[in-house]
Amino acid sequence: MNTPNFSSLFEPLPLGRGGVTLPNRLVMGPMTLNQATESGHMTDWIVDWYERRAAGGIGTIIGAAVFVSQNGRGWANAVGIADDSYTDGWRRCVEVAHRHGALFGTQLFHGGAASKVSLLGQQPVSASEWVREGFDPARALTEEEIEQIIADFANGARRSLEAGCDFVELHGAHGYLLHQFWRGDVNHRTDKWGELTAFPVAVTQAVRKAIGPEVPLVYRFSLHADDPAATNHPVTPESLAVFLRALEAAGVDAWDISCWHESRRGYFGTDVWLPDWVRQFSEKPRIVAGNLLTPQQASDYLAGGHAEAAALARALISDAAWAEKAEQGQGEQIRPYEDSHWAALREGIDISRDH
Ligand SMILES: Cc1cc2nc3c(=O)[nH]c(=O)nc-3n(C[C@H](O)[C@H](O)[C@H](O)COP(=O)(O)O)c2cc1C
Repeated sequence: MNTPNFSSLFEPLPLGRGGVTLPNRLVMGPMTLNQATESGHMTDWIVDWYERRAAGGIGTIIGAAVFVSQNGRGWANAVGIADDSYTDGWRRCVEVAHRHGALFGTQLFHGGAASKVSLLGQQPVSASEWVREGFDPARALTEEEIEQIIADFANGARRSLEAGCDFVELHGAHGYLLHQFWRGDVNHRTDKWGELTAFPVAVTQAVRKAIGPEVPLVYRFSLHADDPAATNHPVTPESLAVFLRALEAAGVDAWDISCWHESRRGYFGTDVWLPDWVRQFSEKPRIVAGNLLTPQQASDYLAGGHAEAAALARALISDAAWAEKAEQGQGEQIRPYEDSHWAALREGIDISRDH
């Protein structure tokens, strides 16, 4: 039997203008693990989780949605970077990644309306008054608060670099605050922040200023919020083009396109997949997440020209050594993802440990 050759997954990928190069085309997609302390500080559990994936050959790790403001928390025991007391924890993650030759970056996040009074101790906030299903009603941010959150993103980026991160990502996907401002069905503001790209652009510019011209800045976005299968999102090809071009001008180096489980679905009523729409409007590298569970699927996706790098999330819950096994032609030894593995993670068990 011929051993499949996945060498295309192991080619380096230059990112940004500062000479940073992803060691291979395999990126660990951001995963909120909910194993931080109550205050969102780092734990040995999380550091060990990252170390095992870095040791298993993944080239680049995007380290979970990290709240930049205390009023941007989305989950209990999720990680933060909202003040300097969080920096040392991130430094530990960077160190273990680097020890195994992987790059590490944070995913800067504000949950906006996707939160609860019981978690925040105050009402959640958003672009406008809005109730996101399953969460508490959010109030509209004041202009002063918006400026503060922009500064919080910039400070989160600064702390990420102080921790040694190789890049930073902005979490503009999945219906969280950056996405809430971009959504015309959520953002009804009449001030300058009612222009749908204004807040994502301002955050991007502030983060770019904080990290300087050379550190890669990745922007994650999705069209869906709650329901990945929804086709009624308010974005059109034209508004996507406006969005991507505005963010690119503001300093984005690469896209992290989150398709959830839909990375092989046509968008905007066509057969054209979302990353291929993105390619029509931007030449920047595309990291794509969405149901790329096996080396064959990831390799085919890249070979088809749909992405320059594959982001793996659930596959790496199941098998921390996915990348190493793919590289060594031992793909059949990769433990396939099962929903019970994610369920174990919710219980605080790293299932890949027993494999
Ligand atoms: C346990 C878990 C936690 C996740 N947390 C985040 C997160 O913090 N930020 C984010 O942008 N996406 C998050 N995602 C979505 C993944 O990054 C990814 O886009 C999605 O799982 C699709 O990729 P997959 O099919 O390889 O799992 C999470 C997914 C899982 C399974």
